[in-house]
Amino acid sequence: MPHADLLRALRSAQHVFILTGAGTSAESNLPTFRDPGPHRGLWDNHRPEDLASPDAFAAHPARVQSWYGHRRRAALAAQPNPAHHAIAQLAQHVPKLTLVTQNVDGLHQRAGSKGVLELHGSLHRWHCVNTGEPVDDATLDAQLPQTPDDPPLRSPSGTGYVRPGVVWFGEGLPTDVLAKAEAAARTADVALSIGTSALVYPAAALPLLAKEAGAYTAEINPTPSAIAHQLDAAITQPAGVAMSELLRTLTAGINPDGV
Ligand code: OAD
Repeated sequence: MPHADLLRALRSAQHVFILTGAGTSAESNLPTFRDPGPHRGLWDNHRPEDLASPDAFAAHPARVQSWYGHRRRAALAAQPNPAHHAIAQLAQHVPKLTLVTQNVDGLHQRAGSKGVLELHGSLHRWHCVNTGEPVDDATLDAQLPQTPDDPPLRSPSGTGYVRPGVVWFGEGLPTDVLAKAEAAARTADVALSIGTSALVYPAAALPLLAKEAGAYTAEINPTPSAIAHQLDAAITQPAGVAMSELLRTLTAGINPDGV
């Protein structure tokens, strides 16, 4: 039986807010940023913060492009997992659900979630740094550098290098997306933080904003996050396990009070 208070809160919620992070895609075999793992390969000696910044891109565009190209291919090859599917299905069982993600992999959308607020952008939209000209998928498939030593990819018109439409350290989040996410956090009755270390702001502040505004708040993370102690409940299970169980109990009409 999932956490009884959370189940009770979900049963009566008019608006459910969900924030997800890289841990939500861990069961799709996509690496998180801060967990240890044998996944960094070519980029092993570079921390994400050293690759995900305008300075890193200016200093070595092929290194940054190849890292994102590698992540783009991995995301395209991955499949949504039970957590993505349960979140998409939960939206069918509550009056309103706002899904805000820090993930750039597109797996929520592929699981069927609609209106996903992508706080940190997407790996799947690339553009020229100088003109904003978009780059099509076929060009990315064929021409993104595979290693930091390959030549960097320029835009089709040759005006500048191409970059992914993700938010880098030192850059602002898309203001309209953040405003919608904050408004949703303030009006939700239940807020779930799933698979995020809650170390990167402003995303990490959203569940706390919901709590301040009176929501019941919980996180799902096998390792309690930086904000776990400030929330009403911390469910220490993998996202796929916890979300599937929650959805199953909710839709089976099982009463958390056992009456
Ligand atoms: P992190 O790598 O910081 O944290 C991943 C979290 O997922 C950790 O707290 C893990 O304990 C948890 N986790 C691992 N496996 C899990 C599972 N199966 N189910 C649930 N949780 C699991 O990733 P984020 O919090 O998403 O930003 O990182 C936030 C931001 O930092 C990213 O969006 C990215 C990064 O730098 C930008 O690129 C701007």
